[in-house]
Amino acid sequence: MHLAALLFVSALFVAAFALDNGVMRTPPMGWLAWERFRCDIDCEHDPKNCISENLFIDMADRLAEDGWRELGYVYVNIDDCWSSMERDEKGRLQPDPKRFPGGIPKLARYMHDRGLKLGIYGDMGTHTCGGYPGTPLDKITIDAQTFADWEVDMFKFDGCYSNATEQEQGYPLMSKALNATGRPIGYSCSWPAYQGGLPPKVNYTQLAKICNLWRNYGDIQDSWDSVLNIIDWFFENQDILIPVAGPGRWNDPDMLIVGDFGLSMDQSRAQMALWAIMAAPLFMSNDLRTISSGARRILQNKIAININQDPMGVQGRRIVKEKSGIEVFWRPLSNNASALVFFSRRSDMPYRYRTSLSRLNYTTGSYKIFDVFSEKTVTLKDSTDFVVSVNPSGVVMWYVSAPAELNLRQFYRGGKLQRSAYDDDENAIPRVFL
Ligand code: GLA
Repeated sequence: MHLAALLFVSALFVAAFALDNGVMRTPPMGWLAWERFRCDIDCEHDPKNCISENLFIDMADRLAEDGWRELGYVYVNIDDCWSSMERDEKGRLQPDPKRFPGGIPKLARYMHDRGLKLGIYGDMGTHTCGGYPGTPLDKITIDAQTFADWEVDMFKFDGCYSNATEQEQGYPLMSKALNATGRPIGYSCSWPAYQGGLPPKVNYTQLAKICNLWRNYGDIQDSWDSVLNIIDWFFENQDILIPVAGPGRWNDPDMLIVGDFGLSMDQSRAQMALWAIMAAPLFMSNDLRTISSGARRILQNKIAININQDPMGVQGRRIVKEKSGIEVFWRPLSNNASALVFFSRRSDMPYRYRTSLSRLNYTTGSYKIFDVFSEKTVTLKDSTDFVVSVNPSGVVMWYVSAPAELNLRQFYRGGKLQRSAYDDDENAIPRVFL
């Protein structure tokens, strides 16, 4: 075939089989209403917390004014219960007129004026999970066009009230319909969560081509039990899930509940650390108007965010599962760096876990380590035993820089041959970050 023709055909192929919207090259970050505010539509008695334009405006103000936006938290996402029970005279979805009197385009403009983005929610089926109008197959084109006309930036497509056959048609169709609008709209698919999250029922190769992120598993609730349950599922199935993730296509273990009622500070750090290791979307579902300074510090931790947002986009894995209840997670990062998380499932007291970088598969070298939450630095040789103290249901998280060559151990300073610090006392066990 002629080269130009070949290029043309392959361009067609890409257009037809890839979600080519260029968005979400790193996991999306922002705020999502569902877990914290659910389907509270009682604006008469609960005006501050009901699903209304005021709630999204309040959260946008907090994101823009309290340092969140600069860290990457830019999406403000509407979830269920936003719409009117009826479509308009042209068959389009419309927001509840009492709770969203300004309409969605005005809300989108409000976000864009502040450097934020707006997300919206729909359901591939007759109804949303909350009983609002859904998007059955024959409404997909018109709904995609409506969201684009409103200048929405992200769309979560839930899966209540549809069967597997309809979903098999609907999710790819919506992907095409969104692409056809010409507006880049991040596409979140709940499809796998409705099909058990695992092959052969779930085709992750296909999902990665049509969605930017996908909910693999059940809904998060405001409890440590729920977080643990999600962690267990994602890491038990890591060999299936890790290869699918990458720039523009992410597994979604659901929202961050840090700042709500169910987690201690240690558990909050654990959620943040493990979501960063998983390259998970970071959608907080909390009340940014009243969040504690402790929770805010965790969610605004720059190094944890940097780890989550690493441009290589490789999802991390569990590498150690000790009988003691200590687990170790690892994620490769760009520039030959990596992240480690030591996690304790214990419920007695801080556990002194002893290991070495070489036992954690690190190659020969000396590594500069930054403790993400204590903000201390230490240098460790791969072969050196160290002890980390991990709190019950807590974590220690490390950013590990690329190794310095061991043969550079001896170096000249001020004309004199020096020995570097880690060369001293071979057998010392640094008790780091106790
Ligand atoms: C499902 C989804 C949740 C939320 C609700 C809304 O349960 O998984 O994330 O969107 O529906 O009703």
